[in-house]
Amino acid sequence: MIIAANFKMNHTRKTTKEYIKKLKKFKDLDSLKIYVFPPSTALDRFDTTINIGAQNAYPAVSGSFTGEIGLEQLNEFNIKTIIIGHSERRHILNETQEFITKKFNFFKENNFTIFYCIGETSKIRESKNTFEYLNEQLIGVDLNYENLILAYEPVWAIGTGKSAKKEDIEEVLEFLSKKTSNPILYGGSVNPSNIKEILSIKNCSGALIGSASLNVEKFCEMINIAKESRC
Ligand code: PGA
Repeated sequence: MIIAANFKMNHTRKTTKEYIKKLKKFKDLDSLKIYVFPPSTALDRFDTTINIGAQNAYPAVSGSFTGEIGLEQLNEFNIKTIIIGHSERRHILNETQEFITKKFNFFKENNFTIFYCIGETSKIRESKNTFEYLNEQLIGVDLNYENLILAYEPVWAIGTGKSAKKEDIEEVLEFLSKKTSNPILYGGSVNPSNIKEILSIKNCSGALIGSASLNVEKFCEMINIAKESRC
């Protein structure tokens, strides 16, 4: 079971350190795979079995890419995990599928664990074109890559406090499980009151959590629930 915290543009270097310190003290983390994605200013080498990942990076070792970080900066802290294709980067920062694929291939070549996110907008869901849309977001992505973790995150469920319905998640995860044998996560308003039901869904290998992960006590509460769920 994989439980991941995506801080997005929240937490500072100081509060991330405090968060990791508290999380480390939390007993028996080893029975699950825990990932934390702090903002890039808070990346560091943390002495812990918790996996620290980057929310984003440019697909190059280094170079003239103002405002970006690349492989050289990630290597400094031994970061080997990255999120690619998150809906906020697709829809707010206008990343195209072509650029996302470029990132995927670059970080695959460098053996990164890639959390690859896909998800439909509410408009697409209403027009009943969800599967077609998700297929388009998988173009150019090697679904057999051994370090791939796929995350299904419907855009309308992200940060809204309204997670997708169990049947809808189940249907999409079933569709995706036919395409890959890698772990598939659900993300979109996962919180302590719905995580148990979400983790019980067939083909669900864990959760990618934004808002509800920002508070370390809440995150630990969800880890506890995940430990009690099937693995
Ligand atoms: P949320 O974010 O839990 O705040 O909905 C999830 C995500 O964007 O990964």
